[in-house]
Amino acid sequence: GAAELGPYRHYMQKEIFEQPRAISDTLEGVEGISPELFGDGAYSVFKEVEQVLILACGTSYYAGSTAKYWLESIAKIPTSVEIASEYRYRDTVPHPKTLVVTISQSGETADTLAALKHARSLGMPHTLTICNVATSAMVRECKLAYITRAGVEIGVASTKAFTTQLAGLFLLTLALGQVRGHVSEAQEAEHLKAMRHLPVALQSVLALEPQVIAWAEEFARKENALFLGRGLHYPIALEGALKLKEISYIHAEAYPAGELKHGPLALVTAEMPVVTVAPNDTLLEKLKSNLQEVKARGGQLFVFADGDTRIESEPGIHVIRMPEHYGALSPILHVVPLQLLAYHTACARGTDVDKPRNLAKSVTVE
Ligand code: G6P
Repeated sequence: GAAELGPYRHYMQKEIFEQPRAISDTLEGVEGISPELFGDGAYSVFKEVEQVLILACGTSYYAGSTAKYWLESIAKIPTSVEIASEYRYRDTVPHPKTLVVTISQSGETADTLAALKHARSLGMPHTLTICNVATSAMVRECKLAYITRAGVEIGVASTKAFTTQLAGLFLLTLALGQVRGHVSEAQEAEHLKAMRHLPVALQSVLALEPQVIAWAEEFARKENALFLGRGLHYPIALEGALKLKEISYIHAEAYPAGELKHGPLALVTAEMPVVTVAPNDTLLEKLKSNLQEVKARGGQLFVFADGDTRIESEPGIHVIRMPEHYGALSPILHVVPLQLLAYHTACARGTDVDKPRNLAKSVTVE
């Protein structure tokens, strides 16, 4: 009811603003990195496994897609990410020394549960879930678990569940990296410090809301949008596009910026806003030439840049600058303005934000 919403117009907005609290709750009690954060017996499992297989749907799948970059670059463990509904019906080549990781807000998604059982039936006994509901079927079915503390999420479009999943997946990366000897004590301390800073960092990103609202008014008049990101932020671009289509009904798709020339550039006109997640200078130099190609075709660029990037607003290029540069944890911060952009665009279009047409919060049938 209205009392629960407090100053917010919708649950989705409330849940976006709950993220600093959700992350600090999720990290509560984490004194240091150890496999036991994931349950008894995790050490021997982490010691034995040689690869990771992530299974999930929807927004949880994009959390997994982000984690792949962390797992391979920090823990140096080969990782594949599969859409649960595809994996369960596909012929695959199972490897017994695989850590099967399911990611699910509800812990009840039928396809993810079936994919988990399928993986187990193929002879992969090591299972772990990152899940927001401790009493769910997923937690019961997996040997190991990390329970995120997002709290109850009511908005159909997932927000705080996503960022807390990322926090849990980053802890998993550090724990696997530790056991495999790829994360030193000093690196661990650095990463933990950055994680503890997340609630404060999230607060300052949430303070960008008025700037995002100004953009949302422009987006509300469009029928298509393109999202670009590179590397670790490509899944964030995908998640931004998903949020926009789910609640505003604007057709949106995401591309890694380097693929622009292989297709989507043909779609770019003055009617096509192009949202760019641009966290750092190295990729920005490459991105800038992609951006010029968009600009030359009359496209309007909307860039989320980090505090230390030199990109400036100019005709055709709009920039919102993030307060800091966040390193490996950057996806957790960069997704927030994209959530706000989708939310305010949907509000401007007058859609039913918390209950978008045809979608369900939890899909417990195939
Ligand atoms: C539905 C929801 C999404 C969610 C997906 C997976 O499609 O609308 O927000 O990401 O299911 O749900 P899960 O509970 O498994 O994370």
